[in-house]
Amino acid sequence: MSPSEEKPILDSIRSALRYWTQDELAERVGVETRTVRRWIAGETTPRYAIARVIHAELARDERPRAPQFTFIDLFAGIGGIRRGFEAQNGRCVFTSEWDPHAARTYKANYPDADDIHGDITKIAPAAIPDHDVLLGGFPCQPFSLAGVSKKNSLGRAHGFLDKTQGTLFFNIVSILKEKQPRAFLLENVKNLRSHDGGRTYAVIIGALRELGYHVSDRVVSASPWVPQRRDRVYIVGFRTPVEFDFDKLARPRRAPTLGDVLHDSTEEAEEPYTMVSRKRTVVHPRYTLSDHLWQYLQNYAAKHREKGNGFGCSVFGADDVARTLSARYHKDGSEILVDQGRNRNPRRLTPRECARLMGFDTRDGQRMVIPVSDTQAYRQFGNSVAVPVVHAIAAMMVPRLLRPNDFPAPAVEVQAEFALEGAAA
Ligand SMILES: C[S@@+](CC[C@H](N)C(=O)[O-])C[C@H]1O[C@@H](n2cnc3c(N)ncnc32)[C@H](O)[C@@H]1O
Repeated sequence: MSPSEEKPILDSIRSALRYWTQDELAERVGVETRTVRRWIAGETTPRYAIARVIHAELARDERPRAPQFTFIDLFAGIGGIRRGFEAQNGRCVFTSEWDPHAARTYKANYPDADDIHGDITKIAPAAIPDHDVLLGGFPCQPFSLAGVSKKNSLGRAHGFLDKTQGTLFFNIVSILKEKQPRAFLLENVKNLRSHDGGRTYAVIIGALRELGYHVSDRVVSASPWVPQRRDRVYIVGFRTPVEFDFDKLARPRRAPTLGDVLHDSTEEAEEPYTMVSRKRTVVHPRYTLSDHLWQYLQNYAAKHREKGNGFGCSVFGADDVARTLSARYHKDGSEILVDQGRNRNPRRLTPRECARLMGFDTRDGQRMVIPVSDTQAYRQFGNSVAVPVVHAIAAMMVPRLLRPNDFPAPAVEVQAEFALEGAAA
């Protein structure tokens, strides 16, 4: 049996040992405990049929059990993707984020996070702990294929993997290759799909498939979950074929509007974003645009309109859905301005409102700690993910890691009783 055939079987044994002792596992599959120990030590290899029996037994086991799996959080930012997988009872075993400001916010919100590792390009894949799921909202760094065409002209054969060298995506690929996690979730801007006439994306998907993963991808709009038009591409891969269908993502019944995330006068005031005025909570005046900036933005917009360009200086009300919050929102906030009525200039969103707009904060009490300056906070939220979208994807992925159909059915259907015969190596 080749190592790639063995791995799913060993994985099923590892999954089972999260719920059962070695003795229990041995009893359930009808072998001696010492046989189980030999499998774990790699001294002998169980037959494929063992995986089927384990899954049948796991499905039959009604004892309540917390789904458990491990994941790593690459290009972690402030941990938006982590949120969704922790909510599914995953445990983060490694984090990489090189920006000290983002790492500060991360640490403030996940105090039990182990060390946050820095530059991923300086970390050997072998030094990263084993994990079940790799997560990465990798930066949209342009791919240079120049080196590849040079190699082409030298007539050297190379695959997709080779073409990714020198990019941050290559680091993801190297980790997948070394660690072979059972699944991954990658996230990026929608335009990744059209970059360089679609060639960049083809290389990415090709490289993931070349590693043997079953890949699904989809541009998902965040607006059913948060009042923001934010289209992002999500790429999901499983090492074994499983049922995973983006069409089945659970979406909320009511799509929210901006009013759902704006400060309201009855909420508790929070320095430095809001203050109390005449017994009401109001947004701090420093978020209101100065006359000078507001005039400048309007002139700039008018000039661009004349030229037929769509420079975005957009004012939104409580019933609207905002444009995409970007990492450059701190510059002037022109992409999402909040209407404050005829007599006042519009204002920027506060970082607290950004936390809500990205789904980090919820009205039922989840609240992000924001330990950094407004500039850093805007940059961090603008770079992050719409958390409830990741929740929905994680909720669909995780059962696929833990349930029987995570494993391909053997070519010939095997009866459990028959499978037990001579199943022990
Ligand atoms: C698009 S953001 C991802 C944000 C994340 N998904 C979140 O929920 O906040 C990409 C992140 O990768 C980080 N980054 C870029 N290059 C890196 C590197 N070589 N090593 C570690 N982190 C890096 C950036 O600082 C940035 O925070």
